[in-house]
Amino acid sequence: MSIVGVISMKGGVGKTSVTANLAAALAGKLGEGRVTAIDLDPQNGLQWHFGLEAQDSDGVCELSVRSEPWRREDLPSGFNVDCMPYGAGAERDREAFETLLEHEPDWLGAQIKRSGLSKDAVVLIDSPPGVSVYQKQVFACADLILVVVLADAGSYATIPAMETCLDEMEKKYPNLRSAYVLNQVDRSKSLNRDVADLLQRYLGERLVPMGIHADSAVGEALAFHQPVLVYDPHGQASHDLDRLASWVIEALNQ
Ligand SMILES: Nc1ncnc2c1ncn2[C@@H]1O[C@H](COP(=O)(O)OP(=O)(O)OP(=O)(O)O)[C@@H](O)[C@H]1O
Ligand SMILES: [Mg+2]
Repeated sequence: MSIVGVISMKGGVGKTSVTANLAAALAGKLGEGRVTAIDLDPQNGLQWHFGLEAQDSDGVCELSVRSEPWRREDLPSGFNVDCMPYGAGAERDREAFETLLEHEPDWLGAQIKRSGLSKDAVVLIDSPPGVSVYQKQVFACADLILVVVLADAGSYATIPAMETCLDEMEKKYPNLRSAYVLNQVDRSKSLNRDVADLLQRYLGERLVPMGIHADSAVGEALAFHQPVLVYDPHGQASHDLDRLASWVIEALNQ
């Protein structure tokens, strides 16, 4: 089993969009039953990308608070991706869940291992922005971390803190690998182009070679509760995500 965590220091950079659409792209390549997407963000938005918004009661938060195990066969599925929502539970559930995560740093990895996923499953985990109990859980179980950044000054400013964090985590978890994914690339805008070039020079091979273009189809697809690869299969973002999925498969096989 391979676990890919999607994180960022800054909010709104596209983690949830990348997690969902990358999961759909991976499922397109690997087939049904191979890809699971886990929403570890109280915003509980990941499931929307798979048209699963109706099933919003039992998520990872409620199941955990009730000490109920996750079972792969119980997970709702959309577009060949099994999706574990965070859950739309009460505030006290969220607090209890976060306390549990605080006390059991390896809790997420243990649940995933026990869930009955196949040995060749790929699990993607979406997380809230910044350092949190959720992000720590992701670091503790992931094989590969994808850090989503935009080509803007706000994302650029977070890179030193992220690099320090990744250094620490890679010391703590020696098998952990990480790479940056540049999202919303728009080379027609000079600032976007300049920051993208700066990031390329600064990060070198740590920047995944294919960025994801700014493409209005990403937001439109969500409005239609579909992955962008289904909504606009021949569009720019779909093409980029397909290439990113190939890159991830290769990285996980190394
Ligand atoms: N490649 C893209 N092109 C155009 N719009 C995009 C792209 N990626 C993401 N977006 C849009 O950017 C906004 C933020 O995306 P998203 O919710 O995925 O970010 P996030 O990092 O998960 O946010 P949060 O930190 O709140 O969890 C959404 O409106 C989404 O549709
Ligand atoms: Mg998000």
